[in-house]
Amino acid sequence: MKIFLDTASVEDIKTANDIIPLDGVTTNPTLIMKEGRDYVQTLKEITKIVNGPISAEPVSLDAKGMVKEGKEFAKIHKNIVIKVPMTPEGMKACRLLTKSGIKVNTTLVFSANQALLAAKAGTYLTSPFLGRLDDIGEKGTELIREIRQIYDNYRFKSQILAASIRSTDHVLEVAMMGADIATVPYKVYRQMFKHPLTDKGIKQFLDDWNKLQKELKKK
Ligand code: E4P
Repeated sequence: MKIFLDTASVEDIKTANDIIPLDGVTTNPTLIMKEGRDYVQTLKEITKIVNGPISAEPVSLDAKGMVKEGKEFAKIHKNIVIKVPMTPEGMKACRLLTKSGIKVNTTLVFSANQALLAAKAGTYLTSPFLGRLDDIGEKGTELIREIRQIYDNYRFKSQILAASIRSTDHVLEVAMMGADIATVPYKVYRQMFKHPLTDKGIKQFLDDWNKLQKELKKK
């Protein structure tokens, strides 16, 4: 499973990418608002750090506007992927952008039927939002299982990008269910490295090593 970082923080992207090269990045208007920076400049900087799909999200609601904004974003770098919402206008834009050689990430997907339509529109990435489904009392990760089955049944090439991930358990579940990609907030990414027994083990090895050094000095 590929791991993308779900952020517009260039600093966090740099830090994460220095540990293990990231497979891609997803951004959205809320994430860029949190950074308070120019979107195009931020995307330019991200494309210089990460060699993989970088999602940029237009704000138009009609297909024509989405295509226009998408084409501008796509000029930044060949790795830019354009996010369109799962609406009839979004799917029109998906077809038009795909036809002109620009890859699309269909966002705000909350049902398997929506994912089926996105695949039929030729989307490159399909983004089911797990956390937001959990928020309304549904089991978000179940959606990954359904979409995986549909995409496999009909050999759709669209990749499942598990989005709106809130915990390391989400990452584990979507990996087990066969998501192609998980886009992970920086905090969750860091948590994935952690296990109390790893920390305990390091401490014990270090303590024993220091004990040995003291004993050797005494001899
Ligand atoms: C990524 O493409 C999505 O925009 C993001 O994962 C949404 O996450 P949220 O539901 O935590 O805002």
